[in-house]
Amino acid sequence: MDRTSRPHAVDTIRASEPQDEVHLVRLAEVAFEDMGDYSHTILDWLRRPSTVTLVMSVGEGISGFVTYCYRRCDHDVYGDIIALAVDPVFRRQGIASRLLTRAITYLSAGAPQVHASSLRLHVSAGNVAGQTVFQRLGFRFQVTDGYYPNGQQALRYVRDCLPPDRLSVEPDAEDTICSKSVG
Ligand SMILES: CC(C)(COP(=O)(O)OP(=O)(O)OC[C@H]1O[C@@H](n2cnc3c(N)ncnc32)[C@H](O)[C@@H]1OP(=O)(O)O)[C@@H](O)C(=O)NCCC(=O)NCCS
Repeated sequence: MDRTSRPHAVDTIRASEPQDEVHLVRLAEVAFEDMGDYSHTILDWLRRPSTVTLVMSVGEGISGFVTYCYRRCDHDVYGDIIALAVDPVFRRQGIASRLLTRAITYLSAGAPQVHASSLRLHVSAGNVAGQTVFQRLGFRFQVTDGYYPNGQQALRYVRDCLPPDRLSVEPDAEDTICSKSVG
């Protein structure tokens, strides 16, 4: 399928709901199949109270998702982008960039409450698409940091939170993001 014939995703980003689980498990299986079996891991992310998943909905289905939380490491609290995935049919339409932008915004908006100042994520060493998306949204390589289940080396990328004057958070989103504790 060429780029112009791909179906367009409907323009809606929302918090995931329990009925999304079946779509998200299928999407995680496809998107992360090179890295390992994520069918149970995604359910763990979805059900953990401290973790938020935003989805891009398309009709009855989902074209992509981003999962994030705050974490503590020693005395440092940071926002963690746990996963980002787009259905292969909907790739190269800017969906990952839009989901990631929203996650960066929400994590930055909630950062003062949990005393976080930076954002982190991990991406596999060979994942050019993922690294490009992350670099374009301001993340920079920091250090190699462990391995994925199938053995690929994980790279840690970091960036600062957005400053308050660059935040535009819809009022109805604030409860979803800011009430989340450090997981
Ligand atoms: C990485 C991923 C999330 C990108 O999703 P996407 O919606 O296609 O990304 P975007 O459309 O926002 O891409 C933004 C830019 O990133 C770069 N990019 C995206 N996919 C790329 C690819 N396959 N090769 C090279 N560059 C790529 C391009 O510069 C693109 O801009 P352009 O289309 O204007 O050239 C998707 O390929 C995916 O789900 N991969 C499997 C899961 C994964 O690797 N997740 C990231 C680690 S958790």
